[in-house]
Amino acid sequence: MKELQSRYPVSTRAQASTHIDTATYEAMYRQSVEQPDTFWAEQAEKFIDWYQPWEQVSKVDFKASQVSWFAGGKLNVSYNCIDRHLAKKANDIAVIFEGDEPDNDAKITYQQLHDHVCRFANLLKQRGVKKGDRVCIYMPMIPEVGYAMLACARIGAVHSVVFGGFSTESIKARVLDADCRVIITADESVRGGKRIPLKANVDEALKDCPNVHSVIVVERTGAKINWNDALDVKYAEAVAGLPAECEPEQMDAEDPLFVLYTSGSTGKPKGVLHTCGGYLLYAAMTHKYVFDYQDGEIYWCTADAGWITGHSYIFYGPLANGATTLVFEGVPTYPDAGRFWQVCEKHKVNVFYTAPTALRALMSLGDTLVEQADLSSVRILGTVGEPINPEAWHWYYEIVGKENCPIVDTWWQTETGGILMTSLPGAVDMKPGATGKPFFGVQPAIFDKEGNELEGEAEGLLVMKGGWPGQMRTVYGDHQRFYDTYLSQYPGNYFTGDGAKRDKDGFYWITGRVDDVLNVSGHRLGTAEIESALVLHPAVAEAAVVGYPHDIKGQGVYAYVTLMSSATESDALQAELTEFVAKELGRFAKPDYIQWAPGLPKTRSGKIMRRILRKIAENEMENLGDTSTLADPSVVDHLVTNRIIK
Ligand code: PRX
Repeated sequence: MKELQSRYPVSTRAQASTHIDTATYEAMYRQSVEQPDTFWAEQAEKFIDWYQPWEQVSKVDFKASQVSWFAGGKLNVSYNCIDRHLAKKANDIAVIFEGDEPDNDAKITYQQLHDHVCRFANLLKQRGVKKGDRVCIYMPMIPEVGYAMLACARIGAVHSVVFGGFSTESIKARVLDADCRVIITADESVRGGKRIPLKANVDEALKDCPNVHSVIVVERTGAKINWNDALDVKYAEAVAGLPAECEPEQMDAEDPLFVLYTSGSTGKPKGVLHTCGGYLLYAAMTHKYVFDYQDGEIYWCTADAGWITGHSYIFYGPLANGATTLVFEGVPTYPDAGRFWQVCEKHKVNVFYTAPTALRALMSLGDTLVEQADLSSVRILGTVGEPINPEAWHWYYEIVGKENCPIVDTWWQTETGGILMTSLPGAVDMKPGATGKPFFGVQPAIFDKEGNELEGEAEGLLVMKGGWPGQMRTVYGDHQRFYDTYLSQYPGNYFTGDGAKRDKDGFYWITGRVDDVLNVSGHRLGTAEIESALVLHPAVAEAAVVGYPHDIKGQGVYAYVTLMSSATESDALQAELTEFVAKELGRFAKPDYIQWAPGLPKTRSGKIMRRILRKIAENEMENLGDTSTLADPSVVDHLVTNRIIK
């Protein structure tokens, strides 16, 4: 590999192949922050079809925890993602499905998408779903997950997608919190040749969800599943006789579109609520500009529909732009580690968007599999979810992109709805590891802990001044929590929970979460969730979970467990606890290490000193800091002596 450069100027080649140059980006950015309402009104006219114009472009008052965009405007998200394209694109491909097995694929035109979504919407209506009702979607990565989301949007129901990697406790908590009464699932999902029993997980979760009256089951594998005639509905049979027309519901821009649960530093996950107008505009606009999407191109985001990236950049953004979006069911390493590149070649992918963790895993396996594929169609590369280390960036740029493709490192969050910071391809230079510059209308700032804004080159806490249309509106059912979590720390500003640096050229570098949120393989996990799962086990008295640096996953999960006096430490119990977390939460949340902790370092008021636990997990024993304030400093010696050497 060549020597790593710290800055890659926008090349004339990149500029020739992209559509916004540096001067245009700067002029548009200036307008977006100097005359925001004019800017956003123009974009809203351009990107969205409205039944009725809005009364007020924006009303953003963080101190009063009020965020509203295009209020009074009427639209339907599914109409914007499907119907309005039909005049010109009925026979164009909306969705390319690439199954887990390479010989399983399908192409769905915009007309077919319309018919599927309308039938699904009619089925939901038949089951009594009305505007404003919440519907849980727990599905594999198959086209039906998109049909289900769009069907909800069509009739004004609010979807809550639960990642298919979650298991019973997580499903239950989310169904109960939003009071979902209908669940859409599949018999099983298939990933990397392995089957996951989705319907069985739902059955288990529903033992404690008495309000659920319908479970719509899509057949994916035909596996034998338990069937309850009182609840369960066979999707294919049920939609077969339903009309392929369903009038879209006219929604206010500020009506809810979906709830998506995300992990916080404390307690149960938060239901992040996004609304119809601002969210769709922001998803569509960022998809268009950040990926420089051009009509007719094949666009592939490898995320899962269960995360915000899947919502905004597999379905809503691309479909609003009339794009062809690829839905991938599998994993990067099945049948072999060349799968991403083989799929790019097979479907002539133009824009490819993935996570650094996948790149690191593939990079460690060498270049041959990349080189065997014809990647000449690929024009733009993107990353999301965690900081990309410069080595992985370099590999992506040089080996995958052959130094021809701009890389967009996109920083954003479930809460932000869409990308807030990135380098626009062909417009902003690239610095490996930096997430670049703000998107239009976005005003990042760096604050110190005391709430002072730092100017120029600085490192501190990342906040956003002012709002943007795609931002979350509330925490479902708990508006106070919205204020407390994001708006209370630096009054008048949105706090991201991330630390960041701004360099002398105004580029932003994310330094990671500053709270107890982990980023494991790009999946966001709260340490509190894993701890809650562990203490459900009868042998566990107490648990504390921290992250530690992991070469491939970014962060790994390290758990300290105090057992009940009746239980005995053993390897078998360790394995049992690991499996227990997998069963309760999902396999991706499994602790990598469990250390027995007869005591945990606590202050005299009983607060666990996580800083010390993090240092021990990171093997940084010389930096343990002051332990004199602990109720019992000797517990630290025990933990240090018995730490797990990785
Ligand atoms: O810490 C940041 C990290 O992921 C967090 C948001 O996680 P989630 O809500 O699950 O959304 C992930 C996909 C948008 C952020 O607070 N993060 C996301 N993108 C980047 C990142 N960290 C560094 N660089 C990024 N490009």
